[in-house]
Amino acid sequence: MALRILHVAAEIYPLLKTGGLADVVAALPAALAARGLDTRILLPGLPAVLNGLVDLRRLIRFGPAFGAAIVTLRLGRLPESGLLAYVIDAPFLYRRDGNPYLGPDGRDWSDNHRRFALLGWVAAHLATGELDRHWQPEVVHAHDWHAGLAPTYIAQNPALNTATVFTIHNLAFRGLFPLDHHTDLGLLISGAAQSALEFHGQLSFMKSALVHAKRVNTVSPSYAREICTPEFGWGLEGLLRDRGSHLSGILNGVDYSVWDPVTDTALPASYSADHLHGKEVCKHKLQSTLGFAQRSQAPLFAVISRLTAQKGMDLVLGALPALRAEGAQLVVIGSGEAEIEAGFRAAAATYPDSVSVHLGYDEALSHRILAGSDILLVPSRFEPCGLTQLYALRYGTLPMVRRVGGLADTVIDATAENIKLGTANGFVFNDARSRALAARITEACAQFREHALWRKIQRRGMLQDFSWADSAVRYEALYRSI
Ligand code: ADP
Ligand code: GLC
Repeated sequence: MALRILHVAAEIYPLLKTGGLADVVAALPAALAARGLDTRILLPGLPAVLNGLVDLRRLIRFGPAFGAAIVTLRLGRLPESGLLAYVIDAPFLYRRDGNPYLGPDGRDWSDNHRRFALLGWVAAHLATGELDRHWQPEVVHAHDWHAGLAPTYIAQNPALNTATVFTIHNLAFRGLFPLDHHTDLGLLISGAAQSALEFHGQLSFMKSALVHAKRVNTVSPSYAREICTPEFGWGLEGLLRDRGSHLSGILNGVDYSVWDPVTDTALPASYSADHLHGKEVCKHKLQSTLGFAQRSQAPLFAVISRLTAQKGMDLVLGALPALRAEGAQLVVIGSGEAEIEAGFRAAAATYPDSVSVHLGYDEALSHRILAGSDILLVPSRFEPCGLTQLYALRYGTLPMVRRVGGLADTVIDATAENIKLGTANGFVFNDARSRALAARITEACAQFREHALWRKIQRRGMLQDFSWADSAVRYEALYRSI
């Protein structure tokens, strides 16, 4: 019998996406299903999810729960992979358009503790078999703090021996709420249970998951080591160290059915490592769309990112003079912190011929930017895995990254030695300072002018395989070990 796995998460590509989590939640279950595992997904019923699933039918109705008078659990299929997905239809909690976590004012919804506790609670009651008597998961795999109470509710039921895995996609978001909210959530909170949930006088969904899940992992081997140190641990490093061999790092993969310039329908021309002409077409088209001179010789840098300090976006602003000194062009797509957005807006207004900024989220445009650019900047202060540098490799766009987390695990610097060895696939710098980034930009522009050298590095990245197959094997081994 195939092993039954339930993935629990707040977002999924292409229905609802705020970042890499959605890409992973779409691709990993599909890769596991391709290995023969019986894989289903549980999602909150945000409008985009309810509208995007097909063949939806009602399974069971219950309530009141977590402030919702009535909750309907439905089962449907994901349009792309065809995988079965449970969706929690609780209009009072979830029928809100836009970002799943934030209201229109940009602040967390004040009832987020209930909205995401319900997600974990439903996962636990699917595990008991009470909500769907035809399918009971053997492993519940929860992603990030939003699903962090799934392992907690499961652990609080002594009759349940469902295996639980919790994946940290970003430890910075710890799911913190006032401690007295626990009464709303039906959580036991005395003795050991209290110390598991409490983080400096607050309730933490993340901490609770780290304590209660049978296994914890994160999305790259380097980040798994980094989060055991005070610099990257957000106060949870001691707890993470204590989990010892029950904490691991498994690198994310790429869904090449979405991210491949050979088949990408968003591009004006397709291309591959052996036929690069299409990339030149993509670059010229992008340059003209942005109002830049159509010059092959001008290195075109791109940013496709949340515009936050985590992503090192202030370093990019500080390195603009170096870019301009090289006659380079820069295109930015993203949104985030007000100050950083303002910085980019001002740069675009000052240098319209070489800096273009698109504040917002646009999936198709992000593909065209990736294909049309020469270098993708990912100068993160911390990066659990990072997906855009992996996408960039396949698109022949050389990633320039800071040596941290998953970026350090996937990008090999174009040093003379690595070029000789044939391993170089991008550019790496160490210090989280504009000066360090600027220096690497200057060097990379010189390398850009050496055509044959550039082609060699580009080719190496384009031919690398970061598909999910290997990582799915590792996840399956993790499930089987528990
Ligand atoms: P994170 O999840 O920390 O934001 P990742 O690199 O793991 O970083 O994933 C980011 C995902 O979001 C990628 O799929 C990237 O292409 C996408 N993305 C980021 N910003 C935008 C944007 N403004 N428009 C479209 N896609 C974006
Ligand atoms: C988080 C991390 C990012 C990672 C993504 C998917 O958003 O910030 O590094 O790639 O999750 O795991």
